[in-house]
Amino acid sequence: MTDSPLHELIIADDDAGIRDMLARAFAKDFRVSAAKDGAEAIALLDRGRPAAVLVDEMMPGATGTQVLEHAKTLYPDVPRLLMTASNDTERAMGAINRGEIHRFYSKPLKVIEVRRAVLDLVERAHSEEALRTELRALRVLKETSLARGFITRVVLLGGSAERGDRVEAAARTRNFAVTRVVAGADMPAALMAQAADVVVLLRDDSIDVRALALLAHSVDEATAVVIVDGEPDVSHAVEALEVGAVDYIAAPYPDEATLARRLERAAARPRSLRDMRRLTFDLIVANRELAMARKRAEQEHLKLLNAMIRALEARDSYTAGHTDRVAGISVRCGQTLGLDVLRQENLRMGALLHDIGKIGVRDDVLLKPARLSAAEFEVIKTHTTIGASLLREIEQFQCIVPIVRGHHEKLDGSGYPDRLAGEAISLEVRIVSASDVLDALTSTRPYRRGSAPEEAFHIIDDVIGSHLDGAVVGALKQLHKEGRLTDLLQTDGDKTDGPAPYRF
Ligand SMILES: [Fe+2]
Ligand SMILES: [Fe+2]
Repeated sequence: MTDSPLHELIIADDDAGIRDMLARAFAKDFRVSAAKDGAEAIALLDRGRPAAVLVDEMMPGATGTQVLEHAKTLYPDVPRLLMTASNDTERAMGAINRGEIHRFYSKPLKVIEVRRAVLDLVERAHSEEALRTELRALRVLKETSLARGFITRVVLLGGSAERGDRVEAAARTRNFAVTRVVAGADMPAALMAQAADVVVLLRDDSIDVRALALLAHSVDEATAVVIVDGEPDVSHAVEALEVGAVDYIAAPYPDEATLARRLERAAARPRSLRDMRRLTFDLIVANRELAMARKRAEQEHLKLLNAMIRALEARDSYTAGHTDRVAGISVRCGQTLGLDVLRQENLRMGALLHDIGKIGVRDDVLLKPARLSAAEFEVIKTHTTIGASLLREIEQFQCIVPIVRGHHEKLDGSGYPDRLAGEAISLEVRIVSASDVLDALTSTRPYRRGSAPEEAFHIIDDVIGSHLDGAVVGALKQLHKEGRLTDLLQTDGDKTDGPAPYRF
């Protein structure tokens, strides 16, 4: 990112170690301004609009929530992130639900996750801002277009007073607005001054028919040119055709009613073209407004989603980060397998919420720091159906219900809860299942140590075809080989003793 004021990141924490760590993590992405307390953070905010604000809750001077409230008042669209002590998630959840903050992270921080969230939020804020600017410009254009109004404008250039009077009288019977520019006046300037529906050239030697017709069309290609001649002349009629005139009228002149009808006919095309333009503006504006509303709704869903995931993580620290990692792995796998953007987005949401049903699993089973008994495992299995029924209530999450319900199904039909097999398991479900297993194998849990990725793939190889999809596993291996999973896989576990067995 460039070194512009828009790309400033404000970080506030009274712990110098955390300030330094974050400043280093974001050094490549932003110009980082660090504050050591709440008052300093507020002073930095008053100095100008940053790209994002990331603050600690417990600080002298002002709390993180107070700093972010101030940020919201000054710059409602700037992403606001809060860091809290791990025992203070309730307050942060409240703040997220009231729309005061966009994300919160419990300490100790996983810097990679925080960085990804900040970059993601800043990118979203920028694209929303671009959309708003575009909308403003469109509204101005539309108003300009409307300001031209519904009156047909006729401009008469040159010619004798008698011929001009005749055309003007006919135009007035139709309530057209008529502007007359007599010979000697600055005709090009008069043409430039307004977008006429019809330009009537009262032909004589004092006016340059070709130049004026060209100018009228270049001011607005919809403008119709009508040439009114003295005596009929074939070469003049040909010239009229050549310059794109829509009518050529010569003496003897038609009566007033006929003349008015011919002017009206000439004006019809520009008017309908302009109406079409107005409609197009309306359509584009409506489209953009819809996109804005959709973006806003999407933001609300994301907030809800984030709050639900954090609620689960606050209870079960062992799944903390798991859903974010599975989402990251799944989306990259989906990209490798050629899924379109919409399916990638569903994949991301489905992966983020795949274990959400664990909210409904009792503490003594969910938090048991040892391997589960068969009966307890039956209880854990209900997280698939609980998750599906939780999300079924929310319209926007309908499309991810199959992922949440099906992420423990196996290709040979021995999975749960529906014992689906083969083709009945969608590609999205296969991707999330494989990413889930890969992350589970490489993370350290209370009852097992994490494996190194190579070891994990070795274990996974044994269940290709029976449990996991070979093509999906192939894509994951390719991503790993290219180093594109390094930032996602947890590799900080103690692996010196080798992995303990994994329960699929
Ligand atoms: Fe699960
Ligand atoms: Fe999982």
